[in-house]
Amino acid sequence: MGIKVIQQGVGYLGKKAIELMLRKNIEVVAAIGHQSHIGEDIGKLAGLGEVGVKVTNDVQKVLENVKADVVSNCTGTTLLGVYEHIKPFIEAGINVVTMAEEFGYPWYRAPKLSKEIHTNAKANNVTVVGTGLNPGFSWDFIPIAYISACWRVDKIKARRVTDWSKTSPRRALLRFGKKPEEFRKGVVEGKIPLHTGFYECMHLLADSLNWKLDKIVVTWEMAVSKSFREAEFVTVQPGTTVGFKQVATGIVGGEARIVLELCPFVHPNLDEDGVESGETIWIEGEPSFTITTKWAPVEDGTPLCTVARLVNTLQSAIEAESGLLAVTDLPLTKTVRIREVVK
Ligand SMILES: NC(=O)c1ccc[n+]([C@@H]2O[C@H](COP(=O)([O-])OP(=O)(O)OC[C@H]3O[C@@H](n4cnc5c(N)ncnc54)[C@H](OP(=O)(O)O)[C@@H]3O)[C@@H](O)[C@H]2O)c1
Repeated sequence: MGIKVIQQGVGYLGKKAIELMLRKNIEVVAAIGHQSHIGEDIGKLAGLGEVGVKVTNDVQKVLENVKADVVSNCTGTTLLGVYEHIKPFIEAGINVVTMAEEFGYPWYRAPKLSKEIHTNAKANNVTVVGTGLNPGFSWDFIPIAYISACWRVDKIKARRVTDWSKTSPRRALLRFGKKPEEFRKGVVEGKIPLHTGFYECMHLLADSLNWKLDKIVVTWEMAVSKSFREAEFVTVQPGTTVGFKQVATGIVGGEARIVLELCPFVHPNLDEDGVESGETIWIEGEPSFTITTKWAPVEDGTPLCTVARLVNTLQSAIEAESGLLAVTDLPLTKTVRIREVVK
């Protein structure tokens, strides 16, 4: 029998998650919104035909009227904020997969709250797990796969250059096409959030190597465009922000042994920005590896893959042990028991 899913959050990625689930014939039994799209049919929202399920913001009513196996959550970033959103579902015995970055490795930032979420999930016999691309794939699963084929690892460096020309309008407009001083002030005052998944990926990697992190240092710099760039949700004039670069350095035994670089740009351009869309991971050790990935189609790559990680984790979260888990505790796709397949 197929799984029944409640979609929570119908913003840019939530709509894409609905589209993918409907295309995979996964049954979406309810969709919870906040202020926008209330009353709209989820099939139409996803750019497909009507399916007869309308977005609501009445969580209680959904819990009373609908039976579901798992919530697909796309409402935010932070552990505390998203826990408030998913708590009623945990307490109703429904598993939760979220793309909130802070759920990627919550034990570092908030050990007390993580324990509370774990206890609550255990008490209600559900799994709660965070997934996505980073954390959830590029900087954990992929290097960990290569680390598993090494005799020795000395250092890991990873660089992701993402094209934001098709990313959420809310998140793109907040960051790009801004005057440099406005961007700097916004970041310093906490009004313009930069990427927040570094600590989570760094800890997932360090744990996989049995390395103890002394500290993590995160730095950032903005990129100002020389050219005019037009994207789906944002227009960048010359002299305004077109991207930024963030670098997180993980110090182990006094040495910089994990370096993670993220460069989100609107239409990244090698000549002007010095970077092009794609990912490279360098593993120094015995043996050493350089792993390079190019996005195709470039503009859609990041959001499509993020949503695929979410949707492809739903089944394995249902099958997993209860509690607050790390994404690396789960298989990459649904659990396949070869013995049962070949029998
Ligand atoms: N792990 C990863 O690799 C990864 C990658 C990309 C993004 N993310 C995370 O994914 C999240 C979603 O991204 P997005 O681009 O879809 O953002 P978005 O377009 O801003 O959508 C967020 C949606 O959540 C809704 N919402 C807020 N509170 C809610 C609640 N209590 N119940 C139901 N809906 C609620 C908002 O509704 P209203 O508009 O009505 O307020 C909005 O539609 C981001 O916050 C980001 O942190 C993770």
